[in-house]
Amino acid sequence: MATGQIFSRTTQALFYNYKQLPIQRMLDFDFLCGRETPSVAGIINPGAEGFQKLFFGQEEIAIPVHSTIEAACAAHPTADVFIKFSSFRSVAASSKLALKQPTIRVVAIIAEGVPESDTKELISYARSNNKLRNYDKFPLTTLIVVNHCWLFLQVVIGPATVGGIQVGAFKIGDTAGTIDNIIQCKLYRPGCVGFVSKSGGMSNELYYTIARVTDGIYEGIAIRGDVFPGSTLSDHVLRFNNIPQIKMIVVLGELGGRDEYSLVEALKSGKINKPVCAWVSGTCARLFKSEVQFGHAVTKSGGEMESAQAKNEALKDVGAVVPTSFESFEASIKETYEKLAGEGKITPVKEITPPQILEDLNSAIKSGKVRAPTHIISTISDDRGEEPCYAGVPMSTIVEKGMGIGDAISLLWLKRSLPRYCTHFIEICVMLCADHGPCVSGAHNTIVTARAGKDLVSSLVSGLLTIGPRFGGAVDDAARYFKDAYDRKLTPYEFVESMKKKGIRVPGIGHRIKRGDNRDKRVELLQLFARTHFPSTKYMEYAVEVETYTLSKANNLVMNVDGAIGTLFLDLLAGSGMFTKQEIDEIVNIGYLNGLFVLARSIGLIGHTFDQKRLKQPLYRHPWEDVLYTK
Ligand code: ACO
Ligand code: LMR
Repeated sequence: MATGQIFSRTTQALFYNYKQLPIQRMLDFDFLCGRETPSVAGIINPGAEGFQKLFFGQEEIAIPVHSTIEAACAAHPTADVFIKFSSFRSVAASSKLALKQPTIRVVAIIAEGVPESDTKELISYARSNNKLRNYDKFPLTTLIVVNHCWLFLQVVIGPATVGGIQVGAFKIGDTAGTIDNIIQCKLYRPGCVGFVSKSGGMSNELYYTIARVTDGIYEGIAIRGDVFPGSTLSDHVLRFNNIPQIKMIVVLGELGGRDEYSLVEALKSGKINKPVCAWVSGTCARLFKSEVQFGHAVTKSGGEMESAQAKNEALKDVGAVVPTSFESFEASIKETYEKLAGEGKITPVKEITPPQILEDLNSAIKSGKVRAPTHIISTISDDRGEEPCYAGVPMSTIVEKGMGIGDAISLLWLKRSLPRYCTHFIEICVMLCADHGPCVSGAHNTIVTARAGKDLVSSLVSGLLTIGPRFGGAVDDAARYFKDAYDRKLTPYEFVESMKKKGIRVPGIGHRIKRGDNRDKRVELLQLFARTHFPSTKYMEYAVEVETYTLSKANNLVMNVDGAIGTLFLDLLAGSGMFTKQEIDEIVNIGYLNGLFVLARSIGLIGHTFDQKRLKQPLYRHPWEDVLYTK
């Protein structure tokens, strides 16, 4: 007993290269056919490991991803089909490696443009493998039973193939196209026709034709468009002849090459006893004066022998049903089928309704069939067009107009293109607060972290984490309290004393090292800039009055840089005329302004990290002498 079947409803493949769409189409086909297990057991993606989520019907499944062919074969010993779905460059090496694996039986190569020498080497490698297994006396693709044990030969399908399909059981990659097409061609349940084609594109056409005029396909294979195919038309026709469920065979050849003549030989020698309907396309080549190269590498009018006419003649002579034109191919298939049916050689197929494959959310949204709520709302930037935009301003405009970091900040934080004096002020804030030496709390933390061997981001973040109400993070509170006091027309005395009563230190006032007689230069610079360029500095001048009062209490209670930035930003917002009162309140309440110090100080903290690394400083340990040990 012998059968030529190479796939079944339990066949599983290893898919080389992660290509979401063809894998999903294979799994959708599985579901349509009611397979219990997915036909893709694993994915091979060089350099990547883990799992890939895909749908199997309605359920999501995680398909293992392996970085090597060996690892995938070891993990899935029952997966015997290797689908090579990457470019021609890696075909030779990976397909040969796949053929070397004892578990791999079918290698399907989808890539076009595989060098002929590589294909020849692969074919001879598969043959020698079969020889080693002592199967060389059997046709390349035949499955055999010896002493009641199943043995198999290695089969190469392609290169340059769309693949193949065993209807209702297993399909390679994109074979037969979309699910709609598969349903239309009734490829979810087997019929009685074995179909082999040279062309993958035309095979779709024929699947539909065959579905229209017969009870459907049993198995369909597209062998290749290359000069040297891994398996030939006759290899597959001989196989079909051995499959009991196949009652008739349809062959679609092409002009060029001599592959069809091996089929002629097989028919002549009586090796094929099932009706064969055949057509070799490309009869139009004769209309051209010079040689024409059609889509596939082999598809060109060579000598007379390779013409479509000659091959059609030869096939007809040995008993194949060959129509007079491609247009009448459908009619001859119909006739052949009806004849078999009339003779009672075909058992009618039980029609079934395949389950419905649900549409993917993304494509349903795209086609406007469903609406779905978004999970994020964003108003400051958009990266979907040709170039990202900040608050509607394309990046190229930002560069062309010579805008600076102050503009980027105002666009992304305030969603406004502010006048130059405003963005200049923002830039001055960033520059002046970039660093304040290694001894301030943020820099100290960063230095200690960098010296503990931590990376840039950890060192930076450890410094940033010290920013808060006492250090650098008093800008918002300064703006809040000073605004409230000014708007409520409190005198400096009333303001400071009311804060004291509440037990709150006035944010923006006081410094560890700055004094009334050693003012903070940064504060002076900011004040000078604002007094020169701002239309009004009312909030800052109020803070100066408050400082005069606090300095009368203690020499360290100077206006600090947080206080200067906080109050001057209030002046910027109010003076620019670009913000409503409500918007200003919102900015102050949300707390935008500490962001300026955080952003600025990141520059210095990054510098301290690099400095410590450059100086190769060892782990920091605080000296005992500097600690008061007490009980
Ligand atoms: N408002 C009212 N009184 C104050 C303030 C203030 N902002 N700052 C200090 N004092 C008083 C203290 O209550 C203390 O009084 P006391 O002796 O009667 O108890 C006296 O001044 C000295 O206080 P210290 O804690 O020794 O002052 P220190 O120099 O340690 O504080 C600091 C400096 C933390 C900046 C402090 O002034 C403060 O908390 N200011 C408000 C927060 C602030 O603006 N921080 C930003 C600083 S700038 C920067 O980090 C970039
Ligand atoms: C700073 O900018 O870090 C300082 O004002 C704080 C400090 O302690 O000097």
